[in-house]
Amino acid sequence: MPGGSQDIVIIGAAGRTGRPLLEHLARGGTAVRGLVRSEKRAQELRGVAATVVADLADPASLTRAFAGASVVHFIPPLFDKAEETYAANAIEAATSAGVGRFVYHSVLHADTRQMPHHHRKAAVERMLRDSDLAWTIVQPAMYVSTPLLYLDPRAMVFRPPFSTRRLFRPIDNEDLTAAVANILAQQGHEFAVYELAGPSPLTIDDMTAALTTQIGKPVRAEAGAPEAALRGRNFAPEAEQEARAMYAYYDAHGLPGNGRVLEMILGRAPRSFAQSLAVRFGGSKA
Ligand SMILES: NC(=O)c1ccc[n+]([C@@H]2O[C@H](COP(=O)([O-])OP(=O)(O)OC[C@H]3O[C@@H](n4cnc5c(N)ncnc54)[C@H](OP(=O)(O)O)[C@@H]3O)[C@@H](O)[C@H]2O)c1
Repeated sequence: MPGGSQDIVIIGAAGRTGRPLLEHLARGGTAVRGLVRSEKRAQELRGVAATVVADLADPASLTRAFAGASVVHFIPPLFDKAEETYAANAIEAATSAGVGRFVYHSVLHADTRQMPHHHRKAAVERMLRDSDLAWTIVQPAMYVSTPLLYLDPRAMVFRPPFSTRRLFRPIDNEDLTAAVANILAQQGHEFAVYELAGPSPLTIDDMTAALTTQIGKPVRAEAGAPEAALRGRNFAPEAEQEARAMYAYYDAHGLPGNGRVLEMILGRAPRSFAQSLAVRFGGSKA
Protein backbone atom coordinates (compact mmCIF):
# COMPACT_ATOMS: atom_id res chain seq x y z
CA MET A 1 0.00 0.00 0.00
CA PRO A 2 1.53 3.34 -0.94
CA GLY A 3 1.86 5.93 1.83
CA GLY A 4 -0.86 8.55 1.34
CA SER A 5 -1.30 12.10 2.50
CA GLN A 6 -4.94 11.64 3.53
CA ASP A 7 -5.80 12.16 7.17
CA ILE A 8 -7.64 9.01 8.25
CA VAL A 9 -9.42 8.74 11.61
CA ILE A 10 -9.93 5.21 13.01
CA ILE A 11 -12.76 4.90 15.56
CA GLY A 12 -12.16 1.94 17.90
CA ALA A 13 -8.41 2.30 17.38
CA ALA A 14 -7.43 0.63 20.66
CA GLY A 15 -9.54 -2.48 20.00
CA ARG A 16 -8.73 -5.91 18.56
CA THR A 17 -9.56 -4.81 14.99
CA GLY A 18 -8.49 -1.18 15.25
CA ARG A 19 -5.05 -1.40 16.80
CA PRO A 20 -3.40 -3.61 14.13
CA LEU A 21 -4.97 -1.40 11.45
CA LEU A 22 -3.65 1.77 13.09
CA GLU A 23 -0.18 0.21 13.37
CA HIS A 24 -0.26 -0.97 9.73
CA LEU A 25 -1.27 2.43 8.36
CA ALA A 26 1.21 4.36 10.53
CA ARG A 27 4.03 1.98 9.53
CA GLY A 28 3.19 2.58 5.86
CA GLY A 29 3.51 6.35 6.30
CA THR A 30 -0.20 7.17 6.02
CA ALA A 31 -1.35 10.16 8.07
CA VAL A 32 -3.68 8.45 10.56
CA ARG A 33 -5.28 9.36 13.90
CA GLY A 34 -6.61 6.80 16.35
CA LEU A 35 -9.84 7.83 18.06
CA VAL A 36 -9.93 6.45 21.62
CA ARG A 37 -12.31 7.16 24.47
CA SER A 38 -9.83 7.75 27.30
CA GLU A 39 -6.42 9.24 28.03
CA LYS A 40 -5.40 5.80 29.33
CA ARG A 41 -5.95 4.29 25.88
CA ALA A 42 -4.19 7.25 24.24
CA GLN A 43 -1.14 6.53 26.43
CA GLU A 44 -1.20 2.88 25.33
CA LEU A 45 -0.96 4.01 21.70
CA ARG A 46 1.86 6.45 22.34
CA GLY A 47 4.64 5.84 19.80
CA VAL A 48 2.22 3.96 17.49
CA ALA A 49 0.30 6.87 15.94
CA ALA A 50 -1.38 10.19 16.75
CA THR A 51 -4.51 9.84 18.88
CA VAL A 52 -7.58 11.91 19.62
CA VAL A 53 -9.87 11.36 22.62
CA ALA A 54 -13.64 11.39 21.94
CA ASP A 55 -16.74 9.41 22.90
CA LEU A 56 -19.22 7.89 20.46
CA ALA A 57 -21.96 8.97 22.86
CA ASP A 58 -20.85 12.63 22.61
CA PRO A 59 -21.47 14.10 19.10
CA ALA A 60 -19.59 17.38 19.82
CA SER A 61 -16.43 15.46 20.76
CA LEU A 62 -16.69 13.52 17.47
CA THR A 63 -17.04 16.70 15.37
CA ARG A 64 -13.88 18.05 17.02
CA ALA A 65 -12.05 14.74 16.49
CA PHE A 66 -12.96 14.64 12.78
CA ALA A 67 -11.71 18.17 11.97
CA GLY A 68 -9.56 18.08 8.79
CA ALA A 69 -10.09 14.33 8.22
CA SER A 70 -10.64 13.06 4.68
CA VAL A 71 -11.69 9.55 5.72
CA VAL A 72 -13.35 8.27 8.92
CA HIS A 73 -13.38 4.53 9.63
CA PHE A 74 -16.03 3.44 12.12
CA ILE A 75 -15.20 0.16 13.90
CA PRO A 76 -18.06 -0.33 16.36
CA PRO A 77 -17.64 -2.03 19.74
CA LEU A 78 -18.57 -5.72 19.82
CA PHE A 79 -22.15 -6.73 20.87
CA ASP A 80 -23.09 -3.14 21.79
CA LYS A 81 -26.78 -2.21 21.77
CA ALA A 82 -25.84 1.46 21.35
CA GLU A 83 -24.25 0.82 17.93
CA GLU A 84 -27.06 2.53 15.98
CA THR A 85 -26.94 5.62 18.22
CA TYR A 86 -23.15 5.72 17.98
CA ALA A 87 -23.37 5.40 14.19
CA ALA A 88 -25.96 8.20 13.94
CA ASN A 89 -23.69 10.44 16.05
CA ALA A 90 -20.61 9.62 13.94
CA ILE A 91 -22.45 10.12 10.64
CA GLU A 92 -23.83 13.48 11.78
CA ALA A 93 -20.42 14.61 13.05
CA ALA A 94 -18.66 13.47 9.85
CA THR A 95 -21.22 15.37 7.77
CA SER A 96 -20.79 18.59 9.75
CA ALA A 97 -16.97 18.25 9.75
CA GLY A 98 -16.98 17.89 5.93
CA VAL A 99 -15.36 14.42 5.95
CA GLY A 100 -14.78 13.10 2.41
CA ARG A 101 -15.68 9.43 2.99
CA PHE A 102 -17.07 7.30 5.83
CA VAL A 103 -15.99 3.65 5.95
CA TYR A 104 -18.13 1.33 8.07
CA HIS A 105 -16.86 -1.96 9.54
CA SER A 106 -20.00 -4.09 9.26
CA VAL A 107 -20.16 -7.90 9.13
CA LEU A 108 -20.75 -10.68 6.60
CA HIS A 109 -24.52 -11.28 6.13
CA ALA A 110 -25.45 -8.23 8.17
CA ASP A 111 -29.13 -8.67 7.35
CA THR A 112 -29.57 -11.80 9.50
CA ARG A 113 -32.50 -11.33 11.87
CA GLN A 114 -31.62 -14.25 14.13
CA MET A 115 -28.37 -12.49 15.14
CA PRO A 116 -29.23 -9.09 16.67
CA HIS A 117 -25.65 -7.81 16.45
CA HIS A 118 -25.64 -8.52 12.71
CA HIS A 119 -29.09 -7.10 12.13
CA ARG A 120 -28.15 -3.87 13.90
CA LYS A 121 -25.32 -3.45 11.41
CA ALA A 122 -27.80 -3.77 8.53
CA ALA A 123 -29.70 -0.81 10.06
CA VAL A 124 -26.46 1.20 10.23
CA GLU A 125 -25.71 0.35 6.58
CA ARG A 126 -29.15 1.77 5.62
CA MET A 127 -28.47 4.88 7.71
CA LEU A 128 -25.21 5.44 5.87
CA ARG A 129 -26.74 4.91 2.42
CA ASP A 130 -29.41 7.48 3.31
CA SER A 131 -26.81 10.04 4.45
CA ASP A 132 -25.19 12.78 2.37
CA LEU A 133 -21.74 11.24 2.85
CA ALA A 134 -19.65 9.21 0.42
CA TRP A 135 -19.28 5.79 2.05
CA THR A 136 -17.73 2.33 1.80
CA ILE A 137 -19.06 -0.70 3.69
CA VAL A 138 -16.82 -3.66 4.54
CA GLN A 139 -18.48 -6.90 5.64
CA PRO A 140 -15.83 -9.21 7.15
CA ALA A 141 -16.35 -12.91 7.74
CA MET A 142 -15.31 -14.54 11.02
CA TYR A 143 -11.65 -13.66 11.69
CA VAL A 144 -9.19 -16.61 12.01
CA SER A 145 -8.60 -15.51 15.63
CA THR A 146 -12.30 -16.14 16.47
CA PRO A 147 -12.51 -19.96 16.15
CA LEU A 148 -9.08 -20.21 17.83
CA LEU A 149 -10.75 -18.81 20.98
CA TYR A 150 -12.32 -22.24 21.33
CA LEU A 151 -9.08 -24.21 21.22
CA ASP A 152 -7.99 -25.75 24.50
CA PRO A 153 -4.26 -26.20 23.79
CA ARG A 154 -3.59 -28.27 26.92
CA ALA A 155 -6.30 -30.84 26.22
CA MET A 156 -5.72 -30.49 22.44
CA VAL A 157 -9.47 -30.10 21.93
CA PHE A 158 -11.25 -27.67 19.67
CA ARG A 159 -14.59 -27.04 21.42
CA PRO A 160 -16.72 -24.38 19.71
CA PRO A 161 -20.22 -23.78 21.09
CA PHE A 162 -21.73 -24.88 17.76
CA SER A 163 -21.60 -27.73 15.26
CA THR A 164 -18.17 -28.76 13.99
CA ARG A 165 -19.72 -29.57 10.60
CA ARG A 166 -21.03 -26.18 9.46
CA LEU A 167 -19.16 -24.13 6.88
CA PHE A 168 -17.34 -20.86 7.57
CA ARG A 169 -14.88 -18.82 5.55
CA PRO A 170 -12.41 -17.43 8.12
CA ILE A 171 -10.35 -14.42 7.06
CA ASP A 172 -6.74 -14.10 8.16
CA ASN A 173 -6.49 -11.15 10.59
CA GLU A 174 -3.51 -9.61 8.81
CA ASP A 175 -5.20 -9.97 5.40
CA LEU A 176 -8.22 -8.15 6.82
CA THR A 177 -5.97 -5.36 8.12
CA ALA A 178 -4.15 -5.05 4.77
CA ALA A 179 -7.39 -5.06 2.76
CA VAL A 180 -9.08 -2.41 4.93
CA ALA A 181 -5.91 -0.29 4.85
CA ASN A 182 -6.06 -0.35 1.03
CA ILE A 183 -9.74 0.60 1.07
CA LEU A 184 -9.04 3.51 3.42
CA ALA A 185 -5.92 4.88 1.73
CA GLN A 186 -6.77 4.37 -1.94
CA GLN A 187 -9.17 6.35 -4.11
CA GLY A 188 -12.07 4.75 -5.98
CA HIS A 189 -13.84 2.79 -3.21
CA GLU A 190 -16.78 5.15 -2.70
CA PHE A 191 -20.28 3.58 -2.63
CA ALA A 192 -18.87 0.03 -2.59
CA VAL A 193 -20.01 -2.85 -0.35
CA TYR A 194 -17.28 -5.48 0.04
CA GLU A 195 -17.75 -8.94 1.52
CA LEU A 196 -14.31 -9.86 2.89
CA ALA A 197 -13.95 -13.60 3.48
CA GLY A 198 -11.08 -16.09 3.42
CA PRO A 199 -10.11 -18.24 0.43
CA SER A 200 -11.63 -21.63 1.40
CA PRO A 201 -14.88 -22.94 2.89
CA LEU A 202 -13.99 -24.75 6.12
CA THR A 203 -15.80 -26.56 8.91
CA ILE A 204 -14.38 -26.72 12.43
CA ASP A 205 -13.51 -30.34 11.60
CA ASP A 206 -11.44 -29.09 8.63
CA MET A 207 -9.77 -26.46 10.85
CA THR A 208 -8.99 -29.20 13.38
CA ALA A 209 -7.28 -31.28 10.69
CA ALA A 210 -5.19 -28.24 9.71
CA LEU A 211 -4.28 -27.69 13.36
CA THR A 212 -3.26 -31.33 13.76
CA THR A 213 -0.92 -30.95 10.77
CA GLN A 214 0.46 -27.65 12.05
CA ILE A 215 1.04 -28.72 15.65
CA GLY A 216 2.17 -32.24 14.75
CA LYS A 217 -0.05 -33.78 17.46
CA PRO A 218 -3.66 -35.00 17.21
CA VAL A 219 -6.28 -32.35 17.95
CA ARG A 220 -9.88 -33.44 18.56
CA ALA A 221 -13.05 -31.44 17.76
CA GLU A 222 -16.38 -31.54 19.57
CA ALA A 223 -19.27 -29.10 19.97
CA GLY A 224 -19.11 -27.51 23.44
CA ALA A 225 -21.62 -25.77 25.73
CA PRO A 226 -22.25 -22.01 25.30
CA GLU A 227 -21.61 -21.57 29.06
CA ALA A 228 -18.03 -22.80 28.66
CA ALA A 229 -17.41 -20.51 25.68
CA LEU A 230 -18.79 -17.51 27.57
CA ARG A 231 -16.67 -18.11 30.67
CA GLY A 232 -14.09 -15.37 31.12
CA ARG A 233 -15.43 -13.18 28.27
CA ASN A 234 -16.84 -10.59 30.73
CA PHE A 235 -19.84 -9.84 28.53
CA ALA A 236 -22.71 -7.76 29.91
CA PRO A 237 -25.96 -9.82 30.17
CA GLU A 238 -27.37 -8.38 26.92
CA ALA A 239 -24.12 -9.03 25.05
CA GLU A 240 -24.14 -12.57 26.40
CA GLN A 241 -27.64 -13.11 25.00
CA GLU A 242 -26.44 -11.89 21.62
CA ALA A 243 -23.43 -14.23 21.73
CA ARG A 244 -25.80 -17.14 22.48
CA ALA A 245 -27.97 -16.16 19.49
CA MET A 246 -24.83 -16.16 17.33
CA TYR A 247 -23.79 -19.62 18.54
CA ALA A 248 -27.29 -20.97 17.80
CA TYR A 249 -27.24 -19.48 14.32
CA TYR A 250 -23.76 -20.87 13.60
CA ASP A 251 -24.93 -24.25 14.86
CA ALA A 252 -27.82 -24.26 12.39
CA HIS A 253 -26.25 -22.51 9.38
CA GLY A 254 -22.53 -21.71 9.78
CA LEU A 255 -21.48 -18.50 8.00
CA PRO A 256 -20.19 -19.26 4.52
CA GLY A 257 -18.87 -16.59 2.18
CA ASN A 258 -16.58 -16.14 -0.82
CA GLY A 259 -12.92 -15.07 -1.00
CA ARG A 260 -12.84 -13.50 -4.49
CA VAL A 261 -13.43 -9.91 -3.35
CA LEU A 262 -10.67 -10.13 -0.74
CA GLU A 263 -8.24 -11.29 -3.43
CA MET A 264 -9.21 -8.34 -5.63
CA ILE A 265 -8.71 -5.80 -2.83
CA LEU A 266 -5.38 -7.31 -1.74
CA GLY A 267 -4.08 -7.69 -5.31
CA ARG A 268 -2.70 -11.12 -4.30
CA ALA A 269 -3.96 -14.47 -3.06
CA PRO A 270 -5.26 -14.32 0.53
CA ARG A 271 -3.62 -16.53 3.16
CA SER A 272 -5.10 -20.00 3.56
CA PHE A 273 -6.15 -21.13 7.05
CA ALA A 274 -3.05 -23.39 7.11
CA GLN A 275 -0.81 -20.42 6.26
CA SER A 276 -2.45 -18.35 9.02
CA LEU A 277 -1.73 -21.15 11.50
CA ALA A 278 1.90 -21.33 10.34
CA VAL A 279 2.30 -17.59 10.97
CA ARG A 280 0.64 -17.85 14.42
CA PHE A 281 2.23 -21.06 15.65
CA GLY A 282 5.52 -20.96 13.69
CA GLY A 283 7.16 -23.96 12.00
CA SER A 284 6.97 -25.01 8.40
CA LYS A 285 4.30 -27.71 8.41
CA ALA A 286 1.55 -25.64 6.80
N1 LIG B 1 -14.18 -10.97 15.56
C1 LIG B 1 -14.76 -11.28 14.41
O1 LIG B 1 -14.65 -12.45 13.94
C2 LIG B 1 -15.58 -10.22 13.67
C3 LIG B 1 -15.99 -10.49 12.35
C4 LIG B 1 -16.70 -9.49 11.67
C5 LIG B 1 -17.02 -8.29 12.28
N2 LIG B 1 -16.62 -8.07 13.56
C6 LIG B 1 -17.00 -6.78 14.19
O2 LIG B 1 -15.82 -6.02 14.43
C7 LIG B 1 -16.16 -4.98 15.38
C8 LIG B 1 -14.97 -4.71 16.28
O3 LIG B 1 -14.70 -5.83 17.07
P1 LIG B 1 -13.45 -5.80 18.08
O4 LIG B 1 -13.38 -7.17 18.66
O5 LIG B 1 -12.27 -5.21 17.40
O6 LIG B 1 -13.98 -4.79 19.17
P2 LIG B 1 -13.25 -4.26 20.47
O7 LIG B 1 -11.90 -4.94 20.65
O8 LIG B 1 -14.25 -4.34 21.58
O9 LIG B 1 -12.92 -2.74 20.13
C9 LIG B 1 -13.89 -1.75 20.19
C10 LIG B 1 -13.24 -0.45 20.63
O10 LIG B 1 -14.30 0.53 20.69
C11 LIG B 1 -14.03 1.35 21.80
N3 LIG B 1 -15.26 1.96 22.32
C12 LIG B 1 -16.26 1.34 23.02
N4 LIG B 1 -17.20 2.25 23.37
C13 LIG B 1 -16.77 3.45 22.90
C14 LIG B 1 -17.30 4.76 22.98
N5 LIG B 1 -18.47 5.02 23.60
N6 LIG B 1 -16.61 5.78 22.40
C15 LIG B 1 -15.43 5.54 21.76
N7 LIG B 1 -14.87 4.30 21.66
C16 LIG B 1 -15.54 3.27 22.23
C17 LIG B 1 -13.42 0.44 22.84
O11 LIG B 1 -12.70 1.28 23.73
P3 LIG B 1 -12.03 0.74 25.08
O12 LIG B 1 -10.74 0.11 24.60
O13 LIG B 1 -11.82 1.97 25.87
O14 LIG B 1 -12.98 -0.25 25.67
C18 LIG B 1 -12.58 -0.51 22.01
O15 LIG B 1 -11.24 -0.10 21.92
C19 LIG B 1 -17.42 -5.48 16.12
O16 LIG B 1 -18.50 -4.64 15.81
C20 LIG B 1 -17.63 -6.88 15.56
O17 LIG B 1 -19.02 -7.23 15.48
C21 LIG B 1 -15.88 -8.99 14.26
